[in-house]
Amino acid sequence: MSIIQIAEKQFHLRGKDFSYVFGADHFDYLSHKYYGSAISEDADLRYFYRSHVYNDYTAHIPGVRDRFSSIYPEYPVANYGEFRDYAICVEDSRGCRVTDLHYEGFEILAQKPAISSGIPTARGGETLVVSLFDATLSLRVKLYYTVYEEENIITRRAEIENCGKDPVKLLRALSVSLDFYDHDFNVLTLRGGHHEERHECLTPANYGKISVGNCRGNSSHQHSPFIALLRPNVTEETGDVYACSLMYSGSHYECAEVDQYGKTRMMAGIQPETFTWKLESGERFETPEAILCYSNEGLGKMSRSYHDFYRNYVINPNFVYRPRPVVLNSWEGMHFNFDNKRLLAAIDAVKGSEIDTFVLDDGWFGARNNDKAGLGDWFVNTEKLPGGLKEISDHCHEAGMNFGLWIEPEMINPDSDLYRAHPDWIISAPDRKPVLSRNQCILDLTRRDVLDYIKNAMHRVISESGATYIKWDCNRHMTENWSRLLPADRQGEVQHRYILGVYELATYLTESFPEILFEGCSGGGGRFDGAMLKFFPQYWTSDNTDANDRVEIQYGTGLCFPLSTHSSHVSASPNIRNGRSTSVRARTNIARQGVLGYEFDPLRVSEEELSTIAENIKKHRTTEKLILEGDLYRRENRLHGNVMSQTVVSKDKNHAMMVFYQALNPHNGDLIARAAGLDPEKHYRIEELDMTLRGSVLCNVGIFLERMPGDFDAVLFTLNAID
Ligand code: DGJ
Repeated sequence: MSIIQIAEKQFHLRGKDFSYVFGADHFDYLSHKYYGSAISEDADLRYFYRSHVYNDYTAHIPGVRDRFSSIYPEYPVANYGEFRDYAICVEDSRGCRVTDLHYEGFEILAQKPAISSGIPTARGGETLVVSLFDATLSLRVKLYYTVYEEENIITRRAEIENCGKDPVKLLRALSVSLDFYDHDFNVLTLRGGHHEERHECLTPANYGKISVGNCRGNSSHQHSPFIALLRPNVTEETGDVYACSLMYSGSHYECAEVDQYGKTRMMAGIQPETFTWKLESGERFETPEAILCYSNEGLGKMSRSYHDFYRNYVINPNFVYRPRPVVLNSWEGMHFNFDNKRLLAAIDAVKGSEIDTFVLDDGWFGARNNDKAGLGDWFVNTEKLPGGLKEISDHCHEAGMNFGLWIEPEMINPDSDLYRAHPDWIISAPDRKPVLSRNQCILDLTRRDVLDYIKNAMHRVISESGATYIKWDCNRHMTENWSRLLPADRQGEVQHRYILGVYELATYLTESFPEILFEGCSGGGGRFDGAMLKFFPQYWTSDNTDANDRVEIQYGTGLCFPLSTHSSHVSASPNIRNGRSTSVRARTNIARQGVLGYEFDPLRVSEEELSTIAENIKKHRTTEKLILEGDLYRRENRLHGNVMSQTVVSKDKNHAMMVFYQALNPHNGDLIARAAGLDPEKHYRIEELDMTLRGSVLCNVGIFLERMPGDFDAVLFTLNAID
């Protein structure tokens, strides 16, 4: 049993390797008690701490509040007795911003209840719901906890209900707050930018606040909705990690604050700077879900827990373990420079190369000859494609391939027929020129008419396309944050309402076309977050396809998200972004650490190169199951040195794939690739070397490698147990 009521108002959430204990104190404040390695189920921590109050120096004065909030509140409030960061702030109709939440009751539900606002949440079972109430405000806050025992995960979210007569305004409603007794931590976040998504950022926790997040209306390239506290001794395989991955795609906020007593508070949720929400009498607000993971064996176990969790409870079961198409995407090879003749010739050229899906990227619709025009006009450009998409998809089918198509449903160019007909359909400020980014504006998906229009337009495009794969792109972030149809006191809701619109559109399209694989994308790997994985079993990891840079990007992405979600393409060398030359071996072996695909102009590729591609895809098909189902064990990390190595191991430990990458070729020193995660007793045949070694030897001694012929190279070994 994962949810235990230890005593009255006291709860113990128990996973395979962790315990999370909390309960109401004698003032009925809900207080956190313990989070860490598993402790006995009946441990009663009610009286463990001498004082639960933050400050009680007014206790003797009648009529004055006789205590302040718990020192470790489970869901801290604003402006009522302490000065640390808070999870909730509510403004009443008199403008007062005080909240005071007391324990009210609990229930244990056999099944995790569905969320009504459409925010994606993980599938799950037994769920503890603890209710808190502010009698002055008539405000109820329900905290939801679902335990995933095997994965060592707890999901948390809050639901806030206005039970009073008058409206109130939420100024902040975070998903989670977690207090720790000390600050002996490093704070791990994932920073980035276009072409350099999800790079590890490690900062020692210290007095004050480390906070990340953004106001871009998009979970973004810049900061992922992720934060973790790492004990200083944490390695890949040792040490305590407390991580939080927020399932949200809009502006978000994560922070680790160390207070005057040296205690740490970790929080995550919707970014308060771009959020307010008015709750009329009887209305409720649901926060996104925070995915908490505890690992007692370092970052490696944290990643494996998150990978299992996202695969088993978030990603569409219809696709999650299904072999994925190996696509050739037209973007890097052709950009906007194509017509039907060039596309048909490209399809003919790759026929028989084992590439099984041809994807037509941006440029097939409206006046879309460059990125300045056409977005919003979702009608085939018949000058370029006189036979429509049907001619292209039919040709794919004749060549034994499937067809895939790019869309960017949320956006609009001012130079488009849609904009000329509906200039008021964008998000922009009144009486000011709209801000453009990549020459485009954002459609106001907070509006029912706009959302319905784009739902129908996309439904028509996809139905008529003959596609089995759709790439959903999103190439700008949100500014202005103002919607024409909302009243002034609801303009703070624009960003969140927008992302709810995106979720509605994604739900509608993925449910309308259950056999189509949707891949997410946002100017590369922006908006790659847990919520998006509910719709997109795979995600374009970055516009940067250089093998060296991808090693780093895929490392950060794999901290939280399974390898089967990393869409990874082999592109031409020198790389179009940074001019770096890398061997086809390096590019392929790095791309094989995710969902393999290609980006090149088939008309510029030789027969010989195409047959190498075919051979490599055949090899990839022999290890693909590991990417879909296996466990990731990292060893050397490129961010901390010149080499990277990792092993992906099947759950039964009978099969594995090991990759070793070296950036610069040193003059001296042995190259040793050591595996990880293998069964030490089993013998593994290393297919590429025609050699057999025990798991313990592979992991501890390793394989001595030949000197590499140049810089930026990667070798890959396939390991199969023979006993
Ligand atoms: C950004 C994406 O990341 C690229 O792969 C490509 O689809 C372009 N947009 C097209 O405009």
